[in-house]
Amino acid sequence: MPPKVLVFASTYELHEYAVSILKNQLKKKPSSRIGLSTGKTMIPFYNHLACAKLNFSKATTFNQDEYLKPDSKTRSFKKYMEKYFLNKTNISPKNFHIPESNPANSKKSAQEYEKAITKSKVDLQILGLGRNGHIGFNEPGTPFISKTHVINLTPSTRKANNTKTRQALTIGISTTLHAKKIILIATGEHKAKAIKTLLQKPISTKCPASALRKHKDVTILLDKAAAKEL
Ligand code: GLP
Repeated sequence: MPPKVLVFASTYELHEYAVSILKNQLKKKPSSRIGLSTGKTMIPFYNHLACAKLNFSKATTFNQDEYLKPDSKTRSFKKYMEKYFLNKTNISPKNFHIPESNPANSKKSAQEYEKAITKSKVDLQILGLGRNGHIGFNEPGTPFISKTHVINLTPSTRKANNTKTRQALTIGISTTLHAKKIILIATGEHKAKAIKTLLQKPISTKCPASALRKHKDVTILLDKAAAKEL
């Protein structure tokens, strides 16, 4: 089934809707496994989430990615999640998972993360979108069969994220598609081209997010600016 696309008049309504999906999921199954994302797009989502006071007491979460050995000026995604999620919800820290930023052995750390996240299916994966079509840190060219792995960040992503850090650990594209249900959120005109490629150009590793068209339960939430080229 092709992704369902919903376009919202405002980002406020979009994030409110996204939080309601998560709320229903946790109501239906309090012990849900939830995949989480970072990035600027997600900040208003986490702000809405904090206000909604959802019950995460039985839930388990898995973040998608983390910088590897971040340079001193780069804020790790762990720090981001502490600020916007861990300190704002009742999630138990032992049920919160994110790839390590300074593992002794990054390959082994990636394998262990893959094992933990795919132990049973993620019930709901929430995704952002890079302007070059990346999901997690799966940059263009990443095979669709990829599992959790170390990736070299492209110059464009380093510029967009304002970091000099060269590598990251990310769940793979196959790891992402393993989830039962996927929600992708994109806002702003700078995402319009990637949204068009994701939905209307041939499925290709040139746009990692186009792999989502191979999944049977994907909903894409857009504001008008991100939907501009459709
Ligand atoms: C980042 C993260 C992704 C995120 C995407 C969009 O690099 N690795 O998980 O979804 O790029 O980020 P933003 O919302 O800041 O545009």
